[in-house]
Amino acid sequence: MRMAVPCAAARRSAWARLRWRPGPGGRSVAAAPGPLRAAGGREVPLTSRRYPVQRLPFSRVSRGDVAFFERMMPGRVVTDPEELKPFNVDWLRSVRGCSKLMLKPQTTAEVSQILRYCHERNLAVNPQGGNTGLVGGSVPVFDEIILSTLLMNKIISFDKVSGILVCQAGCILERLSECLEEQGFVMPLDLGAKGSCHIGGNVATNAGGLRLLRYGSLRGTVLGLEVVLADGSVLDCLASLRKDNTGYDLKQLFIGSEGTLGVITAVSILCPQKPKAVNVAFLGCQSFAKVLETFTVGRAMLGEILSAFEFMDEKCMELVQRYLKLSSPVAGSPFYVLIETSGSNSTHDEEKLSNFLEEATASGLATDGTVATDERRIKELWALRERITEALMHEGCVYKYDVALPLGRLYELVTAARARLGPGASSVLGYGHLGDGNLHLNITAESYSRALQDAIEPFVYEWTASCGGSVSAEHGLGFKKKQFMHYSKPQQAISVMRRFKAMFDPKGILNPYKTLPSSP
Ligand code: FAD
Ligand code: LAC
Ligand code: ZN
Repeated sequence: MRMAVPCAAARRSAWARLRWRPGPGGRSVAAAPGPLRAAGGREVPLTSRRYPVQRLPFSRVSRGDVAFFERMMPGRVVTDPEELKPFNVDWLRSVRGCSKLMLKPQTTAEVSQILRYCHERNLAVNPQGGNTGLVGGSVPVFDEIILSTLLMNKIISFDKVSGILVCQAGCILERLSECLEEQGFVMPLDLGAKGSCHIGGNVATNAGGLRLLRYGSLRGTVLGLEVVLADGSVLDCLASLRKDNTGYDLKQLFIGSEGTLGVITAVSILCPQKPKAVNVAFLGCQSFAKVLETFTVGRAMLGEILSAFEFMDEKCMELVQRYLKLSSPVAGSPFYVLIETSGSNSTHDEEKLSNFLEEATASGLATDGTVATDERRIKELWALRERITEALMHEGCVYKYDVALPLGRLYELVTAARARLGPGASSVLGYGHLGDGNLHLNITAESYSRALQDAIEPFVYEWTASCGGSVSAEHGLGFKKKQFMHYSKPQQAISVMRRFKAMFDPKGILNPYKTLPSSP
């Protein structure tokens, strides 16, 4: 024991160098919708012009249809082309539809009436939440009717004993978080788009995000759903029970179904207690191997209090600094990790974190770093990671890939893409949810180019498949990735999915052209 003292002292002094220095001065915000233009100020091209896609033989919206909806929901029917513009273009400014009608129901009964009518009339419908989706699933491809959950924003109940929240699908994630925090709880998911995305959209995409390492996926925390099917019938699976093994778990089919099987109208979700002690460490590492080792050591030493382990490369840091004017207290490293701990005893947690940080510094895993324990500084550090997606938009055109890979090979894909594309791309960078084995590979250029896209795809998908990865870890397939499903799913699975689609939506009116690959 005595022998250990000088060693511990040496470690402490190494860690002391990493103590808090002035923070980045950023705000933690959600996805602010940008201008409705693509790179270079050009109008986003119509999806039907850029992609080889044929309109299916759905009916076209007639004056009679509009009159029907206006009688049904006066004042909540949008036909003004200017007003419709932001709902026809996705957050990435990469796809654009030409819907002439948006409906804003307030109740499940209204959603049911809308779908019954559309089903009878063979009118295609695009369910839309906060329109923050990143795979082109949230906006029409042609003239589908936009069914928006913007006005379905009521909390139905919250049980403080069980932590179960029941709410309408259009509640904004951040509003839910704020309401819960007042009661000592938190939402089990968090993501950079929290200020705009809806809980229904989160469930429809099975969004992962920044808390998945701690609370698991929505497949575990969502306890029940209310869904309106394509023919207008209401499927009430809004259970608020933690255990329920009566037959097939139907709600799972709708989680991650991206609006193609039904419209989610209400969600029942299990919310954890707000952790009493939260700490964030932001460290610089000299190689990706060191990042991985830091994760291994962190998991072992932090144990149950480890709640997030995110990483970003130096290019990401450069972009958040250049475009968002965030400053980082940690600089000059090729890789950065953000480690969050959450627990109930600050003394215990800080001691554990401190021991881990001493170990990480003494063994050369982290060469620079800072730690934050108060809310403002914690938010500032999170902003460096959360706002990368937003910073990227300033580069012009962004080609986004969201893959799951074996941890040991996670960053190899970035290196391989960089080598392949050379000066053909402005930036090739990687960040993501390291603790979940999820890489966000992003490639930027001043403007869209078919040649660059062809150089990236299917290379990225083939590479991912070759090491048993998934071509969509958390963003879904939407319109832009649906043709690549076979890289991660066998044909038999795809054909079972088609059978589900045909059963739930025999006319195919719900979010056509999305998720399932076009028939051969
Ligand atoms: P939308 O974008 O409106 O729709 C997404 C899809 O769901 C569409 O196919 C739509 O048809 C369908 N849909 C929407 N509402 C319903 C409904 N009520 N019923 C049926 N279908 C519906 N994703 C992650 O997984 N993790 C992240 O960390 C993450 N971070 C992000 C950060 C930023 C800055 C941005 C812009 C996006 C991020 N995303 C992330 C993408 C993510 O999928 C969405 O932000 C979110 O889950 C979508 O919610 P939304 O309400 O905006 O849905
Ligand atoms: C993120 C989004 C892009 O993790 O999924 O920031
Ligand atoms: Zn992500």
